[in-house]
Amino acid sequence: MQNVSIKVENLQKSYKKLDVLKGVNFTVEQGSIFALLGSNGAGKTTLIKILTTLLKQDSGTAIVNGFDVASKPDHVRQSLSLTGQFAAVDEILTGQENLIMIARLRHLKHPRQVADELLTRFGLTDAANRRASTYSGGMRRRLDLAMSLVGTPPILFLDEPTTGLDPEGRIEVWKVVKELADGGITVFLTTQYLDEAEQLADHIAILHEGKIIASGTLMELKKLFPPAEVEYVEKQPTLEEIFLAIIGKKEEK
Ligand SMILES: Nc1ncnc2c1ncn2[C@@H]1O[C@H](COP(=O)(O)OP(=O)(O)OP(=O)(O)O)[C@@H](O)[C@H]1O
Ligand SMILES: [Mg+2]
Repeated sequence: MQNVSIKVENLQKSYKKLDVLKGVNFTVEQGSIFALLGSNGAGKTTLIKILTTLLKQDSGTAIVNGFDVASKPDHVRQSLSLTGQFAAVDEILTGQENLIMIARLRHLKHPRQVADELLTRFGLTDAANRRASTYSGGMRRRLDLAMSLVGTPPILFLDEPTTGLDPEGRIEVWKVVKELADGGITVFLTTQYLDEAEQLADHIAILHEGKIIASGTLMELKKLFPPAEVEYVEKQPTLEEIFLAIIGKKEEK
């Protein structure tokens, strides 16, 4: 039996008259990647804020890492890290300094060692001593992810981790996210990109008009929409494959 990492039951949240979450239910298994899909304004960030104790629900329960978000917010906070759309990276500091700063804030014993290990893991060793302001979008996102992993929390929340990245940067982030989940970390991510969910998620849930209207593995979701008619066509490469082939990134992986 898999352990449950997040359990949400009948969660409701309104902003004044606007009902955003109208009874949301789902569970996330430990070590899995769970993708929450939804259009702009669906309530994805609202849900993440509740699960990370930044916002209180109106009713319903949310258990994160075994702790109730409403009654045990401190325990919940210690169980997770959150990477929002707006990176926590300090532009003036180097990549290494950013990581050391977080490690100190979290009272870790060997901040420099922790920083260097994460720089290696995220392929940022060469850029370690450059100011973050000189990093590309993909590098910055990787640094942001690395920062959220200082102290290795068991659950990682990623709110639109690849918005604004080019295909190459997105694939870098995907690779890291997969490795994290392989290492046993639970990843809860929101995205508006269907292909991102398709590539990454063990489990996908679609939030629409305040409720989870569909949920399951990709295969399960595909079964909900059987093709009307079977067609035999040559498999064409996707634009992403073509783009990556042209810029010569394929063999590096
Ligand atoms: N603090 C707030 N006060 C009032 N309304 C809010 C507040 N925060 C969010 N909303 C509204 O709640 C709805 C859900 O917002 P939320 O940010 O959770 O959506 P989202 O799914 O994350 O959207 P996006 O894809 O654009 O990030 C939106 O209509 C938004 O305008
Ligand atoms: Mg959002």
